[in-house]
Amino acid sequence: MLPPRAWYAASDAARLSLHGTWRFRLAPTAGAEGDAFARPDFDDATWQELRVPGTWVLKGFGTPWYTNTAYPFPVDPPRVPDENPTGDHRHVFDLPDDWGEGPAVLHFGGVESCARVWLNGQELGHFKGSRLPHEFEVGTLLRPRRNVLAVRVHQWSSGSYLEDQDQWWLPGIFRNVSLHRRPEGSVADHFVHAGFDHLTGEGTLRVECSPAGRVTVPELGLDLATGESATVPVRPWTAEQPYLYDGQLVTAGETVPLRIGFRTVRVEDGLLKVNGRRILLRGVNRHEFHPQSGRTVDPDTMRRDLLLMKRRNVNAVRTSHYPPHPAFLDLCDELGLWVVDECDLETHGFAQQGWRDNPVDDARWEPALLDRARRMVERDKNHPGVVLWSLGNECGTGRGLSAMASWIRDRDPSRPLHYEGDRSCADTDVYSRMYADHAEVERIGRRAEEPLADPELDARRRGLPFVLCEYAHAMGNGPGGLGEYQRLFETYERCQGGFVWEWIDHGIRRRTAEGEVFHAYGGDFGEELHDGNFVCDGLVFPDRVPSPGLGEFKKVVEPVRIEGGTGDGPGAVRITNLYDFADLGHLDFRWRYEVEGEVRGHGRLAVPALAPGEAAVVKLPPAPAGAVRAGEAIWTVRALLAEDTAWAPAGHEIAWGQLTAVPRPAPAPPVATATPRRGEGNVVVLGPGTFDATTGALGYLDGVQVGGPRLDVWRAPTDNDEAAPWQPEPRPATEWRRLGLHRMRHRVESVEPGPGALVVRTRVAPAGSPLALHAVYRWTARRDWLRLELGVDPEGAWPVPLPRLGVRMSVSGSLGFAEWYGGGPGEGYPDTRAAARIGRWSMPVDALQTPYVRPQENGARPGVRWAQLTRTDGSGLRIEGDPDFFFSARRWTDEELTAAAHTTDLRAGEELWLHLDHAQHGIGSQSCGPGVLPQHRLEVAPARFSFVFSSLR
Ligand code: GAL
Repeated sequence: MLPPRAWYAASDAARLSLHGTWRFRLAPTAGAEGDAFARPDFDDATWQELRVPGTWVLKGFGTPWYTNTAYPFPVDPPRVPDENPTGDHRHVFDLPDDWGEGPAVLHFGGVESCARVWLNGQELGHFKGSRLPHEFEVGTLLRPRRNVLAVRVHQWSSGSYLEDQDQWWLPGIFRNVSLHRRPEGSVADHFVHAGFDHLTGEGTLRVECSPAGRVTVPELGLDLATGESATVPVRPWTAEQPYLYDGQLVTAGETVPLRIGFRTVRVEDGLLKVNGRRILLRGVNRHEFHPQSGRTVDPDTMRRDLLLMKRRNVNAVRTSHYPPHPAFLDLCDELGLWVVDECDLETHGFAQQGWRDNPVDDARWEPALLDRARRMVERDKNHPGVVLWSLGNECGTGRGLSAMASWIRDRDPSRPLHYEGDRSCADTDVYSRMYADHAEVERIGRRAEEPLADPELDARRRGLPFVLCEYAHAMGNGPGGLGEYQRLFETYERCQGGFVWEWIDHGIRRRTAEGEVFHAYGGDFGEELHDGNFVCDGLVFPDRVPSPGLGEFKKVVEPVRIEGGTGDGPGAVRITNLYDFADLGHLDFRWRYEVEGEVRGHGRLAVPALAPGEAAVVKLPPAPAGAVRAGEAIWTVRALLAEDTAWAPAGHEIAWGQLTAVPRPAPAPPVATATPRRGEGNVVVLGPGTFDATTGALGYLDGVQVGGPRLDVWRAPTDNDEAAPWQPEPRPATEWRRLGLHRMRHRVESVEPGPGALVVRTRVAPAGSPLALHAVYRWTARRDWLRLELGVDPEGAWPVPLPRLGVRMSVSGSLGFAEWYGGGPGEGYPDTRAAARIGRWSMPVDALQTPYVRPQENGARPGVRWAQLTRTDGSGLRIEGDPDFFFSARRWTDEELTAAAHTTDLRAGEELWLHLDHAQHGIGSQSCGPGVLPQHRLEVAPARFSFVFSSLR
């Protein structure tokens, strides 16, 4: 086996990919089959076929297994069970005719969890460290024709104890396997040092190489020997402006293309700085995942991830929790992302036994830990995008981590170290936490956090910059509270941002017996121990369709703030440049003036090319003439890319803001003219409404059947409402169920037709409880509309907030098209509505649904002034709210939504269920982080709100 070295995607030395269809056999235990299969003449005719790279459990052999922290085998380090699925792989290949003789390297980019390798019957060795490269020198064993490569892979090994990341266990040869020719004098290893001095504007380049050679960078006129350094004026590399210089490293035996980015990373003045400036991380945690191929991620998918990120204002990636495929880092260099490169190390399962026997605090494991640190650093050291090395994730504390840290510091002093699991920060250069709540982040921001017991360590930590390596748990609907975090990051320079947990839902694509596609999660494969849908907590769905959380993130972290109403007078917006390096010269600003969502004027807005941190007040043009009377008027100002970039075309929107020009005229209480009268049968007729005289329920509107509306407080709990079992109490959904909010009973106290109004009094309460809500429905009407004014008054001391407060009603399923004026186009809840812009939106009811992998409350549009539901012929129902409301419509009830475990459990019924909510409880992030902030809680209190219903013909 060869020592680890820098990876590069290509050179003039030949390479042969060994990807393709291999022969494969799976055994249930490690020792079942002998080694005979490794012999070249072994007959594998009865074996199956398997595509390499890949994981066998997603190709019909065995099944995937998901656990968060628990080891899926007895904790008995370093031993693993006899039941150890073992995949034997065989591949026969010829060398290309022009391959030649001499040294060659057999490269494995990643094998989970442990491999033993033979070539042409000769055993080469074995290795562990699943997401790290391993190479063997094989030149003398190769022959021109019929080389037989045999690889035995065990699902479990001692290495599994170091790989307890929260994800699927997916054994197999999941990354590149290739053969590299190593001509005499070719590059054994090289290290590119390219720093930037922001005071002089000069970069210093020095390339270490063994063997020695020359380095050229034509654009800089550089031609120097390896080991020699040169200082010249350069354009620096940053995530905002990722300038790379093309160069070449030439040794006697090989020419390697270089892509050089000049930048200097430092912790100084208590801040993490690049090129002399504090940076703000707008980051995500990215696991490697594909719903069909697991951790085998093809280059197009990697690029797609990065384009999606860049287009959503993401500027940083933590490679949770292992070094990614190296091609991903090449793309980060090219497109511009700050990268925290994390080592393949997690021993979280030991937390369950109070960290007893933790490998990171046991000298016997130290060589394995150091091996992992080396393999990461050596492979990835030449990437300008990598600005921090991370020792691993959730390993507790111990001397093994210190040993890794000191090895890394010695080998690469140019990058600071990250590790979250040691609160003392003994081995790190940044103070990192996960899921700290807003209040704690604020204390840390003021450098006023709880002190450590050791004053020296405390003083050191208090002087460090702060990052949230994980925050805003994006499981299901959410995360809520992003905006409040962002304000803290912008207020306290010590708080340098963070990384949302996480990028993608790890749902595995499956089909029901009827052939419908859904995404599976923990437990769906019969695992005896698992953590359910906790594996689906990303900003994009498994198929990489963005979930609303990503839209919210994009808006909240936008690098340009556009605000009205900031005391700068009417008809002006304040524009603030929140980039760290770029001025605003690359953006085009546009304004639009809308009345009730109809565009009445638009144009360009001249905005100065503000430098980072600068702000300016920019006057808007006069409001378009003739537009003043007709209702609510809103300015929208948008910042768009002026020119194409490597990641988005010109015209791509970076940021936007809205400001009210003419407020929504308070809808004058319509003058009711109709008086309730007894109709035929047991009904009361009021204007276009027909009510049940006993229950007071509206049954028909203009002759068309409707059900309700009726007070409703239940919502299908979100993952954040449910909150993880280990989360501190109270957990909202548990409390709601305990109180019985999912089984409220309605008792009609009176139905009172009176002069000009029908008044229905009810008491709404769950069994076994004295708590109640008194709901008084006051119906008034004219010939062509019906108005409901609902008054809600609580009885008793309610200990918890309500999920929602509004009415639910049913209408015919034929009203399948929705149009509304209010927040959109996507969903939004009290603490996730930054991305909802006021406008006029329309879409089919089916498109209003957000397909969270585990179904739950979704799809509410906030700030809705009016909504219409129509049939294909345009007839239908219109609802106006005063005040504005949350609007949702779906083809199933909330009871069905609550009961569903997968998207395919939801079946469209005959009816549409509408929710018109005066209020919703916030979303928060309690599936792993803090709950709903006080200002977004729906506390039980008296409320009054109204809707006007009319039919459209
Ligand atoms: C963190 C952990 C992640 C993930 C997350 C919850 O503790 O580092 O890997 O488990 O919580 O989804």
